[in-house]
Amino acid sequence: MEVILAEHAGFCFGVQRAVDTVYEQIACREKEGRPIYTFGPIIHNEEVVCDLQRRGVRVLDSLADAGKVPKEERGTVIIRSHGVEKAVCESLKDMGFCVVDATCPFVKRIHNIVEKESAEGKSIVIVGNAGHPEVEGIKGWSGSATYIVESVEEAQNLVCSPGEELCIVSQTTFNYKKFQDVVEIFKERGYNGSVVNTVCNATEVRQAEARELAARVDVMIVIGGNQSSNTRKLYEICRQECDMTYYIQTLDDLHLRLPESVRLVGITAGASTPNNIIEEVQNYVRINF
Ligand code: F3S
Repeated sequence: MEVILAEHAGFCFGVQRAVDTVYEQIACREKEGRPIYTFGPIIHNEEVVCDLQRRGVRVLDSLADAGKVPKEERGTVIIRSHGVEKAVCESLKDMGFCVVDATCPFVKRIHNIVEKESAEGKSIVIVGNAGHPEVEGIKGWSGSATYIVESVEEAQNLVCSPGEELCIVSQTTFNYKKFQDVVEIFKERGYNGSVVNTVCNATEVRQAEARELAARVDVMIVIGGNQSSNTRKLYEICRQECDMTYYIQTLDDLHLRLPESVRLVGITAGASTPNNIIEEVQNYVRINF
């Protein structure tokens, strides 16, 4: 049995940076003794979040949650790679927390574009999943009308005022092809404005590589948290190319019964899957099949 691990499986640059930031803050705390919090789980991976909990890092799920922390325990809050609304950062500071911003620079770039373009009077269109924290965060940097569009149909149905100028951006993890299809609808409808492709290259590369790999293997394994939207997208892409595609969180979920004809297994993983989990799965398949 041959096992091929996708070159770009696992942590992307932004997630690695955010996780490293938490561990750096833990090291600082040893000296300063300030409590550490993350605003939401630092990544969509239970293993990592549990490890951080064991090291005393607490998760604040909302501003209301932050407000319940006694004043003398308001230490450092780390903003995760998805970023947050501008108002959230400001409220945390007002409450007396020290905010360490680990927003991925590619997401931060979108915040800056949205803040600037909306200040210049453009309405903002975010192509992405409404309700995803990254999209909520991006929306929170806009000072003008903001629309969230997830599909070609939604783009067709969006009603804007005549003469309304748009600035179209996308969620970093949005499928690049779908983003282009949505943008095409706006062009066909004759809207004015600008389009900034803010799909993150890490996602594009990971998705293209997964598609290519899934097309040539007999079995494909996609590893990632079940809350991770980028892992789910990877799974969908692989499934289109390879019927025997499995979506697992950790090795414990892998119950493979492979037909004899299987020669080649491909493995990829979402942006928030730690290396040790990928290695474990890879070694298991290599040794047992
Ligand atoms: Fe950043 Fe791209 Fe990862 S936006 S968090 S490097 S998927």
